[in-house]
Amino acid sequence: VELKAGNPMDLQRNAPSSADGLCFDDPTRAEIFAQTFAEIQQYLKIVDTLPVEALPSGGEIQAILSQFDFDRPMAPEAAVHLVAAAMTSMQTHTSNTRYFGLFNPAATTMGIVGEAFAAAFNSQLAAWSHAPFAVATERYLVQAIGSRFGDRFLHGTFTSGGAEANLTALLCALVARYPSFSNGGLRSLRAQPVVYASAAAHHSVVKASRVLGLGTDALRTVQCDASLGMDIAALREMIAKDRKAGADPLAVVATAGATSSGIVERIPEIAAIAKADELWLHVDAAWGGFAALVPELSPVIAGIDSADSITFDPHKMLSVPMGAGMLLTRHADILARAFAVSADYMPASEDDDRQDPFTHSLQWSRRFIGLKVFLSLSVVGWQGYAVALRRQTMLGNTMRSLLAGSGWKIVNDTPLPVVCFVATTRAESPATIVDSIVRKGNVWISAVVLPDGTPALRACITNFRTSETDVRTLLRELGDG
Ligand SMILES: Cc1ncc(COP(=O)(O)O)c(C=O)c1O
Repeated sequence: VELKAGNPMDLQRNAPSSADGLCFDDPTRAEIFAQTFAEIQQYLKIVDTLPVEALPSGGEIQAILSQFDFDRPMAPEAAVHLVAAAMTSMQTHTSNTRYFGLFNPAATTMGIVGEAFAAAFNSQLAAWSHAPFAVATERYLVQAIGSRFGDRFLHGTFTSGGAEANLTALLCALVARYPSFSNGGLRSLRAQPVVYASAAAHHSVVKASRVLGLGTDALRTVQCDASLGMDIAALREMIAKDRKAGADPLAVVATAGATSSGIVERIPEIAAIAKADELWLHVDAAWGGFAALVPELSPVIAGIDSADSITFDPHKMLSVPMGAGMLLTRHADILARAFAVSADYMPASEDDDRQDPFTHSLQWSRRFIGLKVFLSLSVVGWQGYAVALRRQTMLGNTMRSLLAGSGWKIVNDTPLPVVCFVATTRAESPATIVDSIVRKGNVWISAVVLPDGTPALRACITNFRTSETDVRTLLRELGDG
């Protein structure tokens, strides 16, 4: 798709008159939809040929934006084309097979369809009565996906992503421990609640602590040990010290699939401490939870079934378009205790089978987040996902051994497909190496600083279409092919 400097006169040709542009007549709407899906199809066809990262200058972005003048509406075909062209040339293409990046998916085809349906039908999932099929479908998914983690994870809610799920988990912990919290807030508590998460935890727990009013001082950062995951002895000591000082240890967050290193923390040992010390155990499996879908990988997250709550993000390894997260829990009533309100303007249903999502989650007006997951799972099936995820994991192993074979030192230890590595024969820092490679546009990798302070390069098999050829291209870009 090529972006042509727009002639304002062309852009305005065929512009709708006034409010007609809200809807259009049937034939025009059909043309707009056909063009839109043609642009999407064209993008997906060429995405692997695009520079993986294309960062425009501020001036280039401004040149495009200046073609959009809200006092002079443009034709829909011009608007659709300009936007598609701008996104084609001005973003990091997470759908490119040589994006070895953060936990961002290449969207499943059915996921894209799900997004289009969610927008077009615009189901309002706040109340059961407005969207009974959609609400029941999300509940069905919560049970279907939750039960992959253990028989009791039949409760939960879809969220915008892992950050909202982690926030929800810590709120549940507060509500479960302190009956007075919902009304009296933190001021009603006799002791300061404290939450433990390791230095490998995602920083959304920091935000959650702020938003919940706990404050970041109440979030104890547990140091990591040589495994790059939570140091269990340090956790034990911190809890004892806090108790002695009169604080109230409330919850511990175990990370299953750390953002920088992909490692899974020792869930069984953390769970044992949580049980003995009566802490809420939250497992952030936003990324690593996919191991539950691949039989031979599920031992990697053993112990997750003893969690009180789990974060799992379908918009990571299930590859549905952003945003789709989930908070799963084994406590049947906890979300209602955290979120129930009654509002006389809301059509409320009392029936347990007809729960209103606005009484069980942070969001009020809710889009049909689960539809892209439902359509993808319906077509791919558990079996198809297991095949794809197994393949991605094996490709991670291939990448690991090719890098090690080329003299790079692997500095993280995980069976999951994130590889962190450092040079043994080069003086440049990981950040310098990453910069020089990414700028060329053939591959995308990142630089991280691991919890032990080691700066490293990081590559993740995040795209289900990535192949060994792409991995070999990465090696070549690193100067080893
Ligand atoms: C382990 C982990 N938890 C939570 C999050 C936050 O998820 P989201 O970006 O979907 O809000 C991330 C994001 O990468 C993550 O890696």
